[in-house]
Amino acid sequence: MSRTRVLTGITTSGTPHLGNYVGAIRPAIAASRDPGVESYYFLADYHALIKVTDPARVQRSTLEIAATWLACGLDPASVWFYRQSDIPEIPELTWFLSCVAGKGILNRAHAYKASVDKNRAEALDDDAAITAGLFMYPVLMAADILLFNAHKVPVGRDQVQHIEMARDFGQRFNHLYGEHFTLPEAAIEEHVATLPGLDGRKMSKSYDNTIPLFAPREQLKKLIAGIVTDSRAPGEPKDADNSNVFQLYQAFASAEETAVMRKAFADGIGWGDAKQKLFERIDGEVAPLREQYEALMAKPAEIEAILRDGAARLRARHATPLLARLREAVGLRDLSSVVASGSAKKEKATLPVFKQYREADGRFYFKFVDGEQVLVQSVGFASPKDAGQLIARLKREGGAALRHLETDALHLGDELIGHLHDAAELADVVEALAQLTEEA
Ligand code: TRP
Repeated sequence: MSRTRVLTGITTSGTPHLGNYVGAIRPAIAASRDPGVESYYFLADYHALIKVTDPARVQRSTLEIAATWLACGLDPASVWFYRQSDIPEIPELTWFLSCVAGKGILNRAHAYKASVDKNRAEALDDDAAITAGLFMYPVLMAADILLFNAHKVPVGRDQVQHIEMARDFGQRFNHLYGEHFTLPEAAIEEHVATLPGLDGRKMSKSYDNTIPLFAPREQLKKLIAGIVTDSRAPGEPKDADNSNVFQLYQAFASAEETAVMRKAFADGIGWGDAKQKLFERIDGEVAPLREQYEALMAKPAEIEAILRDGAARLRARHATPLLARLREAVGLRDLSSVVASGSAKKEKATLPVFKQYREADGRFYFKFVDGEQVLVQSVGFASPKDAGQLIARLKREGGAALRHLETDALHLGDELIGHLHDAAELADVVEALAQLTEEA
């Protein structure tokens, strides 16, 4: 019936390298061939502006990355292929999400925190040279994902936190305005860890240790020859698990080939031979794609037309109708259809309630429930009277005396009374209690 929506984006800030290919492009394209999957591939060029201030580089990178996806087998007729900046609904949704995203959550984003740590290490102001764009990066990314209600997002491990944030923002929005968003999940290719670069650190543009995916054959060979290894001589057994050469090989080889290579390492294969095998393995997979790539790069106008067409169809089909619903939901509405004020409250059929019950353990419990959502799950009490008195106190005092400790423990004064349930937050509980006192 309805297909799984898989969405992936690559920031257009550099030249695609083997790490991008193994970590994102290859698995996403394989997934797109699954008839049960609806795939979304896009060029995250708004994201690029956070890092790159050279316009020519943004343009060049966008072209290279588009050509790469197409060369790697993307079929724009059977998947959604588009450029982020061709979809104005993305920045609009970014704003809606900005207004529900917790600033405290953004403070914890790895990329932002790393920049703050670097400033501290250099005895600079925490915020030195940090733009609001960098800080807001996860919100823009959440908009990319939530706009199309993606179920799965294939990403590297370093991006998992961003997917969790997208879930969080989506959930907050849903809680306030109704169920508009599907909560996405990260999909990590388990057997491919992040690819090591030439120097053994994670392959990344920022470490300048990448192997470009479509480096000409001779350059590929040279780069592979330059991968850092230990100094063990041919004949000495080598530690496959701590070798960059082996890890790269594994990312391109079948399980059987990998097992053979592991054995060769134990048997003392020389680094030169191992690198030659690695080169052959990579070139074997990449050479036919490279040819396609070069042909495409010679026809940029065709790529431009493909991207525009993808965005236009996608907007008409998904983005524009969804944004119309969201605008309505948040109150950016046609003024000629004004609703009576206070009606929002009346839409809510029932008030929050306390439900008391006894468990098999013989103790007495309560739940505080608002519509479908359980806000608070109490601890067990010795008698129904104990539970009842606590409920009465909560109703009387409202949320003012409540404290929220550790992850989800709720205290009234010094006493542990229960836990926040599911995605509930203290603010939800306080608000629900306020509704009860208002009514009384
Ligand atoms: N932040 C991602 C990266 O640097 C790129 C990206 C932007 C993305 N928006 C996305 C990836 C949405 C997945 C889904 O790699």
